[in-house]
Parts: sequence; C-alpha cells; structure tokens
Amino acid sequence: MNRYRMHINGESVEAQGGAWFPVYDPSTEEIIAEVPDADEHDVNRAVQAARAAFDSGPWPQTTAQERGRILLRLAERIRKELAALAELESRNSGKPIVEAEYDMADVATCFEYYGGLATKVMGHVNPVPDNALSLSLREPVGVAGQIIPWNYPLLMAAWKLAPAVAAGCTCVLKPAEQTPLTALEMARWLADMGLPPGVVNIITGFGETAGAPLVRHPEVNKIAFTGSAAVGKLILKSAAESIKRVTLELGGKSPNIFFADADFEAAIDGALFGVFINQGEVCSAGSRILVERSIYSHFVEAMTEKAKRIKLGTPLQRETKMGPLVSKEQYERVRSYQELGKQEARLVAGGGRPAGMDKGYYVEPTIFCDVDNSARIAQEEIFGPVAAVIPFQNEAEAIRIANDTPYGLAAAVWSRDIFKAFRVVKALRAGIVWVNHMQPTYVEAPWGGYKQSGFGRELGPWGIEEYLETKQVHINLNEQPIGWY
Ligand code: NAI
Ligand code: MG
Repeated sequence: MNRYRMHINGESVEAQGGAWFPVYDPSTEEIIAEVPDADEHDVNRAVQAARAAFDSGPWPQTTAQERGRILLRLAERIRKELAALAELESRNSGKPIVEAEYDMADVATCFEYYGGLATKVMGHVNPVPDNALSLSLREPVGVAGQIIPWNYPLLMAAWKLAPAVAAGCTCVLKPAEQTPLTALEMARWLADMGLPPGVVNIITGFGETAGAPLVRHPEVNKIAFTGSAAVGKLILKSAAESIKRVTLELGGKSPNIFFADADFEAAIDGALFGVFINQGEVCSAGSRILVERSIYSHFVEAMTEKAKRIKLGTPLQRETKMGPLVSKEQYERVRSYQELGKQEARLVAGGGRPAGMDKGYYVEPTIFCDVDNSARIAQEEIFGPVAAVIPFQNEAEAIRIANDTPYGLAAAVWSRDIFKAFRVVKALRAGIVWVNHMQPTYVEAPWGGYKQSGFGRELGPWGIEEYLETKQVHINLNEQPIGWY
C-alpha cells in the first residue's frame, strides 16, 4: 500500500498513535493510499513546531525578499511537476484531468503572486499632531491553523499557505480527509525550497479528531477555514475560548440571473458552466438559476438539451467534462437532494445515477425547474451537480429572490443593458459578482462572502492582510519633561 507521511518540523512522520486511514479513488471506489490518522498529540507536536519556528530560529530573521524567493521557487517546482500533480489530484478528487491541470497552474500562480507581494507589505506614517512621530508597523499574526476542503485540494492549500508565508507566519495545515495527497506530495519539496523546519506543517486527519484540537489550541493565533457553514459555526465558538482571529469561507447558494436581453447562447453555456463545473462541488456554484419569464421555457428547454450532452467519464480521460463526486458520503448526500427535488419541483434533466456506470460515485447533471425559492433545494447548499431553475417577472423580483438566502458568497447577472446590470450588481448582497460570466477567479482580486458565507477575504492584498497585525509606534520628539506633577 502506498503510504504518505505527514510533514511536521521538516520531517516526514507517522501519527504518534500509529493509526492510518485509507484514501480513495472515487471513480473506482478503491483505496489508493493510506495516510496517518492524526489526533490531539500530533496536533500538539505540529503546533509546537510552528510556535518554535515563529518565536526563534532562522524564520523571524528571514527577510521579506527571502520569503518571496522561497514562494517563487515553490511555484517553479509546481510548474515543473504540473502533469504528475494534476494526475494525482484528479485521481484522488474525481475532478476531470483538464480541470486539475488548470488548478495546478493556479496553484503556481498563487505562490508567484504572494512571492511578489511579500516585499510590498507597507507600514504607515500616521499624521498625528504635536512633537511626535507615529508609525503603524505590519507584523505577522503568528501561528496560523488552516483547515481546508476537498473540492480544490492543492489550490485551497495554496490560498492559505502562500499569504501566510509571505507575511512571515508559520502554519499548521490540515487538508480534508478525503483529499490529502497533493499537499503531502508538495510537502516533500519544502526544505529544498529553503523553508526552515516548522514553518509549514501538514497534518492529516479527521475534523473532530485533528481539526477541532487545532482550533482549540491556545498557541494558535489564527484559524483560516474553508468548508461547511455547520463546521464554521463550531469553529467560531471554539475559537472564542482563546480569542483567535478567524476567517471563514462557507460556500453558498449563489444566484445566476438571466435577463431576456442576454446573449442567449452565451447565457445557456454560462448557466451550465456556473453550476456543473467541477461536478458542482464549488463553493460559488451558480446553483439557483433565475430566468426572466419571457425567455423562461425556451431557456429551460435549451439548457436541458445541452445538459444531456455533458460527457461524464473517468477523470483521467481528457474528454471527460464531469467525473464522480469526491466520496461515498457526498454521493449519498447529493442523491438524497435529487430525490427531495422530485417532490419539491419539476425534474427536467438527470435526477439519478448515470445508466451503465455502476462503479464510482457518479451522479447525473440534474436540473429542476419551476422551483420555489423557499424549497429546500433552493435554500440548502447541495455541493453537487443539481440546479434549481426559478422564474422571475422583472428586475425587482429578481433582486428579491437572489437575496432571499442566508448565504452571500457569489452571484452573476447576464444582460446587455449596462444600466440594469450595474443596478443589479449594486443591489446584490454577495462578496463576488460576475457580469455576463460566472466562476472566473483571479489571485489579484478579493474572494469571500457576505452573511452566512463567512467573513474575511482571501487572495490579492486582502489575503495577506488577514495574516498581519498592526503595531502602533509613538516616538516622542519633545525632549522636555512632560511636567505632569
Ligand atoms: P466539512 O466542513 O465537514 O469539512 C471541511 C474541512 O473541515 C475538512 O478538512 C474537515 O476535516 C474539517 N472539519 C470537519 N469538522 C471539523 C471540526 N469539528 N473542527 C475542525 N475542522 C473540522 O465539509 P464536508 O463534511 O466534507 O462536506 C459537507 C458539506 O459542506 C458539503 O456538502 C458542502 O455543502 C459543504 N462544503 C462547503 C465547502 C466550501 O468550499 N465552502 C467545501 C466543502 C464542503
Ligand atoms: Mg463534515
């Protein structure tokens, strides 16, 4: 059995308790590797390593230039290993190989971006009166605990590690239990890139046994989390105990809004891409498709027709547009929403398991129409290829339905009328809004949600801000005694 080890204090280690757990290929349901099953002891060991690396040794003396170069070297290495990394990612997560290759390129770009940004972190001179000089210094927040999901495994690791390292923090990263392999592969190169031991630690384990102790640990200064809203709430409560800084990215139920004057062909493509890319396992999935009444039936018909032609297949085949879901648990969850949808709305495409594919966690791209926005399939995050199509009468109704959700991660609006499109952009309560597109994501631009989609922003200069403290320094320029007594 192919065994991967964790990465703690620059060493490749097993769990102290000696336990392992299996990692699967979701297209065959077969075990492809085993990884250590970390518990609180291992978390403590990793946090101690990160704490020590932050407080003493070479890391606090490392210049911003050196930190930047480490990230640039890592980016170069990832580009060199891109094909092998993409294959491993595709095999472990079920995502199509072509998408995995895009992800790996984005991983490298993310490390490059923060490699460059490391030397652009600026302090500030504050315009105070009197004989004083007032400065704001920017300093790393300390030890960061980072917990990530399985839908974009190495990319989510990059979004967390790159800004933290650029800022001078140290990290304990816990990949999702379903998809730890690419992060562990990358861990093997960290020392060669010039990263001192203990700066980046990667532990493998389950949420309750490895994630929760990391969140509780008093020596961790900040938690960055991407995952479900349910776990986000637990993290926020637990972090309160030691007043940790917390950033949360909790997914959503994002509206993709189509007005009658949108380019029809582009709109149909955008609706399908928005909800079915990466098997619909996307935090910003356009899972509520709002369509203006006057084009509604034509739109549903065209969308259904095209959805039936989406190529499901094994992830490593280049023609595959949709692979299996990541795990048995996620498969069962999505299947149950497909069944629920049949009671709540009208099924027009998919609705089950694809015929003839009896191994692997495959589900059909599924479209429900005439969905009421209060239905569970319109309110709850499904995180699979299930679309809820909802008609609207006019602009005001589109905005009302779009915002009628506890979430607020993303939204998109399609129209050729710039007045209308921008009015809607301003009225939407969401952290990311696309116009005439859905899903493109750039490392230069902020990413994060409103409402119960969480708080904090990743990527761009916003991303590094979350790993920085601000120290106010007052320098007295008046040599006379204060004369207070
Ligand atoms: P999850 O939120 O349970 O898992 C995400 C990460 O959190 C994993 O690394 C997991 O080990 C960790 N975790 C779980 N419980 C924890 C705890 N008590 N303390 C600390 N860490 C913990 O997500 P799961 O169960 O894999 O998926 C369930 C649903 O969550 C999905 O169907 C989807 O709706 C949503 N989800 C949203 C994501 C997003 O990108 N916003 C990503 C993954 C899931
Ligand atoms: Mg869970």
